[in-house]
Amino acid sequence: LKFVCVSNDGIDEHMVWLIGLKNIFARQLPNMPKEYIVRLVMDRSHKSVMVIRRNQVVGGITYRPYASPKFGEIAFCAITADEQVKGYGTRLMNHLKQHARDVDGLTHFLTYADNNAVGYFIKQGFTKEIYLEKERWHGYIKDYDGGILMECKIDPKLPYTD
Ligand code: ACO
Repeated sequence: LKFVCVSNDGIDEHMVWLIGLKNIFARQLPNMPKEYIVRLVMDRSHKSVMVIRRNQVVGGITYRPYASPKFGEIAFCAITADEQVKGYGTRLMNHLKQHARDVDGLTHFLTYADNNAVGYFIKQGFTKEIYLEKERWHGYIKDYDGGILMECKIDPKLPYTD
């Protein structure tokens, strides 16, 4: 089992993983247009943290790091159907936080959570209260009807992974 963070860099293995992740998102997020999923997963300004087991993608999170306001926007998050509620989603989020802090230099995440995923995000430390000053995210995050905006502060020191 491994956790990787990749973007569309043309490396064959990364492309195979990104396509696998795109297929999981398409199945698990049926309200998202497939073209929109492909566009963001393959967009070079987005990154994807993935769980890989026996060279197969189990799930992942696609996000866009914004360097200067130092937050990341989570676009999609899913675990493949038969592997849900086994702890992968939590471990994935911890790897994302570690990478976003130590590699991207981010301090916060924002996401539009589906109603049925709000409980998962709360368990990962997200809140419905947005403490980030609006000036810091205004113009980056677009309004979107299909979910509820949630925020997570990344601890500056905590070791999220071992
Ligand atoms: N609602 C409430 N609680 C949940 C949910 C949920 N939908 N899913 C998991 N949890 C809880 C678990 O019970 C667990 O609680 P515990 O720590 O008290 O035992 C905790 O959250 C973590 O569970 P994991 O096993 O780590 O979660 P999992 O591996 O199943 O991943 C995920 C969670 C990503 C939501 C997965 O269930 C999934 O892919 N669901 C379908 C797609 C989806 O809804 N994605 C999010 C859409 S919003 C977005 O993409 C921005």
